[in-house]
Amino acid sequence: MSYDPPRPILVSSSAASDVVKRQVGALFNGVGAAQGREIQRVAVEESRLGIPVLLAADVIHGMRTVFPIPLGEAASFEPALAERTARATAVEATAAGLHWTFAPAVDIARDQRWGRGAEGAGEDTVLGCAFAEARVRGFQGPDLRAADSLLATPKHFAAYGAVAAGMDYNYVEISEGTLQDVHLPPFKAAFDAGALTVMTAFNDINGVPASANHALLTGLLRGHWDFPGLVVSDYTADMELIAHGYAEDERDATRRAFTAGMDMSMQSGFYAAHLPGLVESGEVPMALLDASVRRVLSLKAAIGLLDDPYRSLDPSREDDISRLEAHETLARDAGRRSIVLLKNESDVLPLRRDARIALVGPFARDRDNIEGCWTLFGDKSRYISLEEGFRAALPHAGSLEIVDGCGLESPLEGGIEAAVAAARRAEVVVLALGEPQRYSGEAQSRTRIVLPAAQQVLAEAVSATGTPVVVLLRNGRALALEGAVRDARAIVVTWFLGSQTGHAVADVVFGDYSPSGRLPVSFPHDSGQQPFFYNHPRTGRPETPEMSEFKARWREHPNTALYPFGHGLGYGRIEYGATTVDMAKLPVSDVLTVRATLRNHGTRAVEEVVQLYVHDRVASRVRPVRELKGFRKLMLQPGESQEVVFRLAPAQLAFTRADGTHGSEPGGFDVWIAPSAMAGVPARFELLPR
Ligand code: NOJ
Repeated sequence: MSYDPPRPILVSSSAASDVVKRQVGALFNGVGAAQGREIQRVAVEESRLGIPVLLAADVIHGMRTVFPIPLGEAASFEPALAERTARATAVEATAAGLHWTFAPAVDIARDQRWGRGAEGAGEDTVLGCAFAEARVRGFQGPDLRAADSLLATPKHFAAYGAVAAGMDYNYVEISEGTLQDVHLPPFKAAFDAGALTVMTAFNDINGVPASANHALLTGLLRGHWDFPGLVVSDYTADMELIAHGYAEDERDATRRAFTAGMDMSMQSGFYAAHLPGLVESGEVPMALLDASVRRVLSLKAAIGLLDDPYRSLDPSREDDISRLEAHETLARDAGRRSIVLLKNESDVLPLRRDARIALVGPFARDRDNIEGCWTLFGDKSRYISLEEGFRAALPHAGSLEIVDGCGLESPLEGGIEAAVAAARRAEVVVLALGEPQRYSGEAQSRTRIVLPAAQQVLAEAVSATGTPVVVLLRNGRALALEGAVRDARAIVVTWFLGSQTGHAVADVVFGDYSPSGRLPVSFPHDSGQQPFFYNHPRTGRPETPEMSEFKARWREHPNTALYPFGHGLGYGRIEYGATTVDMAKLPVSDVLTVRATLRNHGTRAVEEVVQLYVHDRVASRVRPVRELKGFRKLMLQPGESQEVVFRLAPAQLAFTRADGTHGSEPGGFDVWIAPSAMAGVPARFELLPR
């Protein structure tokens, strides 16, 4: 196996001097066990109090081995998979000397213009909670004191995914109900799974910046939720209180952030500069400082750092690459499980291995857009491009022709002509299109969530040859598909899949794996529908197929998804029987059993993601048209039938009611067991009064 050893970065001599002179208690985004040991020696032997420092970094979806972007992995609908990839990530990250990662991002992203949706689990809260929990468990492992346990940080607290117009860092105007019911639950789930740190968000919430928000950081977090852990700023969020116009100056910003409940300032240096004076003047009570210091020390104690400052700093573990092969196998499996097949007309997929294939597009040979939005330390020497994956899967390399056709954002001289000629010679064209990886992630908001124009032109030209086209999309968000891309015979969403991209995609394209991913975000008809999410509140004028004037819809498009949340195909034919419930009237003290029988009418074994949705028919606040309440991936052999049984407790029907309390309300509900948020026929039940 080729292996490019990790290169330590950023642990510089100034870091050591910061530890001694500025009494810095944590360092971030540097790696290297030997350098880490030196930092701890300096901390223990030369700093005033001799307390070891926390070594942190943004290790989001892989360290040396890169796994799919979190949004892509959420498409697997397999939290257990995310737990395994987070565990593997923690093993590699702690071997490189880290104690703490700034992940998982648990922001719910209901607007696909926002670039940071790529870092989370999509638009749904129940799915988001399941992935938040799984990732925390995976990073931290069963024992926080173990050398391979990596502290997790759910972020960005809170409602960062609700920035207006999907523009990163923008303001957030949000109802209490949406905040409580949609954006906060994944944080609570992460804390319940054992997360001991949390990162504040850059945005304000209804006028109060999250990073100086006492109601959030102290009232809710420590008061209501009893969170014992540490609150760290996002980067310079304390400093940004000045730009928000919420603080006069550095000192005021420090006071506001600290007294609101932010324990640690990541980057600005404000706390080191101003807290001593603020405590001396009494503006920051000593008791508050003590409580904060206690939280930092408790965290260090919890991971065993006060007993062994050199925890996770073993250069021989860092040099040991024996685990990498298993991690590559996991990355390939995670990659193919994250792929979503949107469309497969006339069963054009999977491709025959002896077909004459033209692999066309700017991602065909690309090696620079494999890792996705948040990878600082990936081992690029081990990345597998599409070309490499296809060649490895095809015994007769002669049947594969590869043409770039265009650049990521611009035409290539002669590119279209070469692509068209190759398409004419081929039986099928595989068009590898998508967003450059820098289009998603922090500060990468878009107004139009479409493919770059040069790629669309290529798609139109190739499709005009009449050769069947399979589109492979690389994307960090839901896209609005247009023209020949939308109309291709098959469309495969491959996100950014990480190290094993080429192999994972080839496994699906050539049928070694039947795709089992489902959309964690709705693909709209058009960019202008954003924010668009399946679980929107009911309007007074819902659109109906037969009567569309004066209804809640756009002039140009129906207000539905082109491909809804939860949608995805496999290489089988699954049919859903009717949804049934065991009680027409559900007492609040009981649990409803919901059933449906699925049958695989196809000729291949497939994995199906079965989804449970409900709709509250009448309530004191307008309720969503549907809400996911459960999901399960199961394997069905050809010809096999299986009954799927979900249990639905009244607590799962709770929401923030008109009077601000949380709970369910008696009355009628619809319930579906369905393959997507737009499919199925519901059963009915009534929740009885208490
Ligand atoms: C800013 C990002 O918002 C946050 O997610 C990240 O963890 C920090 N920078 C540190 O790199």
